[in-house]
Amino acid sequence: MSKKYKNYINGEWVEPSSGEYFENRNPANHKEVIGLWPRSNARDLACAVDAAKKGFEVWRRTPAPLRGDVIRRAGDIIASRKDEIASAMTREMGKVLKETEGDVQEGIDTAYYAATEGRRLFGHTVPSELRDKWAMSYRRPMGVCGLITPFNFPLAIPTWKMFPALVCGNAVILKPAEDVPHSATLLVEAMIEAGIPKGVIQLVHGLGEEVGAAIVEHPDIPVISFTGSTSVGSMIGETCGRMHKRLSLEMGGKNAQIVMDDANQELALDGVLWGAFGTTGQRCTATSRLLLQDRIHDEFLDRLVQRAQRLKLGDGLKDGSEVGPLINDQSAQKVASYVDIARQEGDEVLTGGRRAEGDGLNDGFFFEPTILRGVRPGSRLACEEVFGPVLSVIRFSELDEAIRINNEVDYGLSSSIYTNDVRTAFRAMTEFDNGITYINAPTIGAEAHLPFGGVKKTGNGHREGGWEVYEFYSETKVLYVDFSGKLQRAQIDTYEAAPY
Ligand code: UN1
Repeated sequence: MSKKYKNYINGEWVEPSSGEYFENRNPANHKEVIGLWPRSNARDLACAVDAAKKGFEVWRRTPAPLRGDVIRRAGDIIASRKDEIASAMTREMGKVLKETEGDVQEGIDTAYYAATEGRRLFGHTVPSELRDKWAMSYRRPMGVCGLITPFNFPLAIPTWKMFPALVCGNAVILKPAEDVPHSATLLVEAMIEAGIPKGVIQLVHGLGEEVGAAIVEHPDIPVISFTGSTSVGSMIGETCGRMHKRLSLEMGGKNAQIVMDDANQELALDGVLWGAFGTTGQRCTATSRLLLQDRIHDEFLDRLVQRAQRLKLGDGLKDGSEVGPLINDQSAQKVASYVDIARQEGDEVLTGGRRAEGDGLNDGFFFEPTILRGVRPGSRLACEEVFGPVLSVIRFSELDEAIRINNEVDYGLSSSIYTNDVRTAFRAMTEFDNGITYINAPTIGAEAHLPFGGVKKTGNGHREGGWEVYEFYSETKVLYVDFSGKLQRAQIDTYEAAPY
């Protein structure tokens, strides 16, 4: 009998009100059940909101530096359990151990950054236009934040949302993707051990269309942060617009790596292999388009195909595995259907294109690293997010053409250019219409202390990470203090006292 896990509400581990559970299995071996998690519904969510509202009253009065201390302790605890969390994460999510260690590290980095922000959370003090009057601003928390997180970064992304929200003084409700409930459970255990007061964080497991939707629709959750697909993000956006909620969306990407004739080819090869096939292509920052300049196109592609064919697929917990499975069967079917579309559109499948078979692969959702040649700008494989190990190769002649192709998709998360020409690099930095541009580095690999996010249909103008996210999780309050002892009318009395 598999272990039954619980929700965490009001400082206690509790069963779902329905008594129903869903099963989670290892994507590298779907015969292996990891555990059973609560299939929560709107009733569980209502309890979580009640608890969070009480938790908020305690937490918002806790000085921010002390809130930061709790997060620092959580960072220390996660660091001391890095190996244990990483292997649990590989087992439930599939990516190889090196990568899950990186994911955990990103959570630790986020914790330590957030902890110090507890001693900043700057407001402003500015001069008033009137005498004997001060004008200032400070940042206040907003209440209960609903955090809905994806499967691909099971620890890092919840921390990107949870830690800044908490440092700002909010209470949170976390709904992790149903494919990765274990990592979220381990994160909440670390928070409890770090001393988070009861009611400040709640963990509610379940399905997006059930508990996720209930979070978005609940009137007492004024802030929603969602990472996931653009189509779900649009639905959430409609509800949040109608209900006047603050919303941060991190969604799809169709990120391009551009390789110029003058680039260091070896470096560009390493970059595209990591960018396209790392995390089995399941990153919103994944390289899914490769733009090759005419002169190097054929040779680069030959070498890339050889290297891609040598990548070792396998269970991420096994030594030597370089590429793990896709997250689930539905995802493998979706990736396969994109390969069919590519064939119909006349793209050439140079390597891969099907589910992988062989020793240790038959019970998992493995998919061969796939490279498509001759993809035409504007075609579906040039525009749509696949979220798997599929790389569309596009040929170009001039930098202007590469800029145009990079920019002509609906998404705008990340981009990369390999060149040794400083003028080309600066033109790309200026002209690429993305939230992040890398020079001589792949499209993946954002660091926790810089703002993360994209333009166009990738986001809705907010950023996670770095210093900007603290604006999202707090409200500016302005204070005027008049100690003149008389009525001073702004804009009217101002110029009476003017010395000119
Ligand atoms: C994501 O794919 O949703 O830059 C996040 C990167 C990682 C984060 C990716 N640090 O690829």
